[in-house]
Amino acid sequence: MTSSMNYSEKIPNNVDLHQDKRLQRALEEWLPNYLEWWTSMGPESFQRDDVYLRTAVSVDRDGWAHFDYVKMPDYRWGIFLTPRDTRRTIHFGDNIGQPVWEQVPGEHRNTLRRLIVTQGDTEPASVEQQRLLGQVCPSLYDLRNLFQVNVEEGRHLWAMVYLLHSYFGRDGREEAEALLARRSGNPDSPRILGAFNAPIDDWLSFFCFTTFTDRDGKYQLRALAESGFDPLARTAQFMLTEEAHHMFVGQTGVQRILKRTAELMKTGDVRAQGGMPIDIIQRYVNLWYSLSLDLFGSEDSSNAAMFFGASLKGRDHEEDMAEHTALDLFYDMKKYDAKGKLSVDKVPLRRAMNEVLRDAYVDDCEKVVRSWNKALEAEGCDERIRLPVREFHRAQGVYAEICFTPDGRFLTAAEWNDRRDSFLPSEADRSYIKSLMYAVTKPGEFAHWISPPSRGIENQPGDFNYVKFNPGSIHHRE
Ligand SMILES: [Fe+2]
Ligand SMILES: [Fe+2]
Repeated sequence: MTSSMNYSEKIPNNVDLHQDKRLQRALEEWLPNYLEWWTSMGPESFQRDDVYLRTAVSVDRDGWAHFDYVKMPDYRWGIFLTPRDTRRTIHFGDNIGQPVWEQVPGEHRNTLRRLIVTQGDTEPASVEQQRLLGQVCPSLYDLRNLFQVNVEEGRHLWAMVYLLHSYFGRDGREEAEALLARRSGNPDSPRILGAFNAPIDDWLSFFCFTTFTDRDGKYQLRALAESGFDPLARTAQFMLTEEAHHMFVGQTGVQRILKRTAELMKTGDVRAQGGMPIDIIQRYVNLWYSLSLDLFGSEDSSNAAMFFGASLKGRDHEEDMAEHTALDLFYDMKKYDAKGKLSVDKVPLRRAMNEVLRDAYVDDCEKVVRSWNKALEAEGCDERIRLPVREFHRAQGVYAEICFTPDGRFLTAAEWNDRRDSFLPSEADRSYIKSLMYAVTKPGEFAHWISPPSRGIENQPGDFNYVKFNPGSIHHRE
């Protein structure tokens, strides 16, 4: 395998796909089904427009992407893995020291398939959630960023489907079909994880989603990038390269809204001036952060212990850990009884792996919030955004049945119901945010509630035309 990619084939790849005719044929048969899904469930009403997008052209760390105008259905979705390191050995769990697996070990086949399907399902789900968002874009810059995220989530689906087709035989092919059949929010065949079944139809939610929910994806991928199953590890490693931009879109998106809000606070009432008040932004942060925390799974989990013990899913930066078997070690886990009384349980470290991964995630989110608060400070604003405690508004795990305020005070269910709308977006908040959504499609212009980015994509100038509308497009003007 080389690090450069073969674009002469129907499916661009760096896995020598042409040498495996059966696999190539299977994926070429999946391709039209994928395109049908993309045109029906992908960004609505922009499929004929030319979008300034990046396409992966190499898996080298530098210069891996090429930028040009492309119509989304013509995007070169492909299969790209970080090159194989033949010296790599399994570096955690019970199989430590053995060579990494190039094929699926029989005893872990079902578990691995489940891990891959669960990851794979989130990729098309987010595209479906965001399919109407382009119609109310705050600028062409933001519209382009949305589409970049969308096409790359599509590519991540390809990455998981490649693994299913090449390593899991017939049931892998069936799972690949099912990934195109489930639909976000469909009561009969919903997407697998809860946070991926609600539509995202305003841009504050989109920026919160890409900040917090894509960041859960980052940590899941980091844990899979450690896997003893080498093709999965190498697939996840390359996906992380793309994922960084998605979180950039989210983090800078919220930051630009906060900057605008702080500016408007100096000249009067934010709402009266058509901006997003900071307390509403805080409630959206509370919602998306808590939903995303749930995605890590139970604090004390026998599955998590099994994934780690079987060397399938490691920790974030496993190589930096002092010890790699996690045996005879314990994690101090906070627990509460129904009255909110705190105790600390010693949980075997392997069983606490979801919480260990969540710890890394929480640290990362705190950095993001610090950067937002710096932006507020730079505008001379005294308000601050705060992350809620991790016990707040949880539907999974040991905190699921207990209510807490964002700053960690125990509440009875009745108290929670009384105060819910001060913690989480209310109907009034949602309809206000929605009332601010309208399409701004002139190069260099921005919706009133968000400030322009500090620089353009690929250093393009502020009035760069990121999306060229073609005849037939709803935004086309003669
Ligand atoms: Fe993704
Ligand atoms: Fe993403």
